[in-house]
Amino acid sequence: MKGIILAGGRGTRLLPITKVISKHLLPVAGKPVIYYPIETLKSIGVKDILLICGPEHTAQYVDVLGSGKELGVNFSYTIQHEPIGIAHGLSLARSFAEGQKVAFILGDNIFGDNFKEAVTKFKNKEKGAMVILKQVPDPERFGVAEFSGSVIKTIIEKPKKPLSDWAVTGFYFYDNRVFDVIKTLKPSARGEYEITDVNNFYLKEGSLEYFKAKKYWVDAGTFDSLHLANLLIRKNKK
Ligand code: DAU
Repeated sequence: MKGIILAGGRGTRLLPITKVISKHLLPVAGKPVIYYPIETLKSIGVKDILLICGPEHTAQYVDVLGSGKELGVNFSYTIQHEPIGIAHGLSLARSFAEGQKVAFILGDNIFGDNFKEAVTKFKNKEKGAMVILKQVPDPERFGVAEFSGSVIKTIIEKPKKPLSDWAVTGFYFYDNRVFDVIKTLKPSARGEYEITDVNNFYLKEGSLEYFKAKKYWVDAGTFDSLHLANLLIRKNKK
């Protein structure tokens, strides 16, 4: 299985700092944010990792991360010229994936859980996808899974009135058909190729699994969430 980290976007919620530095390189508990998704991929045994960056900050990533040798992984890099959606970013990984399954993580997502067991289950599946869910106090900020019993009925991107508090986090697992699925997508009302539409494709097909994260999860895209990430990681280290 190949690993893909999406670390483009403009980081507008972190201006003016993100005028000069990518939000994924800001420090959390003594490390750049992007180290956390790298470690998450490494912890599930994924070492071949494609970093998808925006054109503004690519040189910074290469300076900080290099070949990946110091971190015990192998990096490849590519550029998403316009941040027109998470699914669009993923589509750029087609040739890198070489027909394999992919573990896809957003560069600002920090997890406290270990996903080894869930991933072994996914690896053994012939086809399909898996999302990681987390119960949150502010579901309207995320993709939200709506349930009928223990089955996900649908996933809604940033619903005004969420019907559950289970957010779909930014850590996804797909079979290689995902690249064909993305080709069928149309931009959403906010003009983006949505990863939620990809997940709903697998859901309709009946091949979307989920795993509920139990520890902490932070999407470190705002000043408040960066602060929270610092607190949580320090607390969990003690
Ligand atoms: O963090 C989980 C959430 O991520 C999910 O619950 C949502 O379903 C999903 O849409 C996404 O929501 P956000 O609104 O938080 O996504 P954001 O635009 O902040 O982008 C997340 C990361 O992906 C961020 O590190 C920037 C990067 N990105 C985003 C876009 C749209 C790119 O590199 N390229 C892009 O085109």
